[in-house]
Amino acid sequence: MRKKVLSGMRPTGRLHIGHYFGALRKWIELQDECDCYYMSSDWHALTTDYADTFKIDENTLEMVADWITAGIDPQKVVIFRQSKVPQHSELFLILSMITPLGWLQRCPTYKEQIKAIKNKDLSNYGFLGYPVLMAADILLYKADVVPVGEDQLSHLEFTREIARRFNNFYGNVLVEPQEKLAKSSRVPGLDGRKMSKSYNNSILIGESDDTLSKKVKNMFTDPLKIKKDDPGHPDGCVVFAFHKIFNNDHKRREEECKSGLIGCAACKKQIMEMLSEFMKPLAEKRKVVISNKAYLKKIIEMGNLQAKEVAIKTLMEIRQALKF
Ligand code: TRP
Repeated sequence: MRKKVLSGMRPTGRLHIGHYFGALRKWIELQDECDCYYMSSDWHALTTDYADTFKIDENTLEMVADWITAGIDPQKVVIFRQSKVPQHSELFLILSMITPLGWLQRCPTYKEQIKAIKNKDLSNYGFLGYPVLMAADILLYKADVVPVGEDQLSHLEFTREIARRFNNFYGNVLVEPQEKLAKSSRVPGLDGRKMSKSYNNSILIGESDDTLSKKVKNMFTDPLKIKKDDPGHPDGCVVFAFHKIFNNDHKRREEECKSGLIGCAACKKQIMEMLSEFMKPLAEKRKVVISNKAYLKKIIEMGNLQAKEVAIKTLMEIRQALKF
């Protein structure tokens, strides 16, 4: 039996290479061996951006275009939109009845984000319930495997706990999913913080040479290495972090940097060349994919129907178990 895979991303527009190395690469890897359902989690986007919904349609297309550009094959996977499969919200409601408030209040991502995000009012009920919605997404497809970034691990743990609780009350219907992490591939942003659109420090999938070279110029380097032959500290250096990803010979670069054999300008120039080579085919493919909006919409519409078939079936079992 092929394993079932579900994952999602919030439609925030164009994706960056942090998304690619953190999750998408895993999504692509799984598409040959498993039955994959990949979703634009637009209800999740509302948990924080409820006041500003006008871009969700456009952002969904931009994001799905990036999935396909990166190598997701719409012939092999089901691509769909969460809000178009109403069963997600119904299961969310059912699970919310059996979710202890304490589980949500103790959730590490909730606590962190409430502290970190100051420009939005996150004292809304939906934001607290974020993990319940994510659990509903996963359990609705009885997914065995969920490829996610490290930041989502606590939500997977929550999903297993809520599945167990449901099965205890009503009988064995839901499947406990396992996470699948991408191999240690944390790409730092240009400034060394986590790569994120809201930090304005990201490199997009299919970035043009023009903007790419500006961004590479702005990459933070070791502040203690001022002259070319000063000994450098590659550990905290953003340019070196990129060498680790793109340059097979990064061990040698580490030594060259430490012993002052190479300066930051030359080191940057080389990573620019490697990034540009990686990006060129993506930029070309992206142009073609995004220019055909009708095709993208069609893929999503077909995916919505396929996803719905599975969702309806699970929800029937759930209602039976609840004796509704
Ligand atoms: N919470 C995920 C994120 O922000 C997105 C998501 C929503 C998701 N539902 C999901 C991921 C279900 C995996 C499975 O990245």
